[in-house]
Amino acid sequence: MGHDKKRTGKIKPPAQPLVLVGLMGVGKTTVGRRLARRLSLPFVDADTEIEKAAGCSIADIFEYHGEESFREGERRVIKRILEGPPKIISTGGGAFIDPETRTRIRARALSIWLRADLDTVLKRVKRNNNRPLLMGTDPKATLRRLMAERDPIYAEADLTIDSGDAAIEKVVDTIVAALSERAAGQAP
Ligand code: S3P
Repeated sequence: MGHDKKRTGKIKPPAQPLVLVGLMGVGKTTVGRRLARRLSLPFVDADTEIEKAAGCSIADIFEYHGEESFREGERRVIKRILEGPPKIISTGGGAFIDPETRTRIRARALSIWLRADLDTVLKRVKRNNNRPLLMGTDPKATLRRLMAERDPIYAEADLTIDSGDAAIEKVVDTIVAALSERAAGQAP
């Protein structure tokens, strides 16, 4: 009942883009797509846009051009996506870690850190094993290291939402509630 109310309740559309950040496997793309539908906003996945711009997969960019080249493309693409009208943007796990991209996101958008525990993330990344940073490594050890390095930076996002193992609609409900609360707090 409470949920249905939240689901159908109207929320004022955000004036800025909403950018989902966080480690791989936390569900940024899935949650972003559903959040966009709920808020009737366009959805853009930054990694998909990078692949379109490069004409090849992220795994191939890493393999043939290297991570630095991927990061350059990521910077350029996110800069472009952030321009224009409000939308929901999901970013790759390293995007918000890049100082230039982080500064740009903070200036133009509202950032949302989607956070999940190590075991949940591990379970999710195992469903799709083409992530270049995990290839040829012990995924649990790599994810643990990335969490330790990146969590303090993700924590600079405007909102932190625990996605944990919760159903997607539930995570979207939590984000919508947090956005409403934030908007109410900022109302004149
Ligand atoms: C990366 C995460 C990936 C992708 C690239 C690098 C990272 O995106 O951008 O492989 O640095 O954490 P997801 O977070 O969508 O897996």
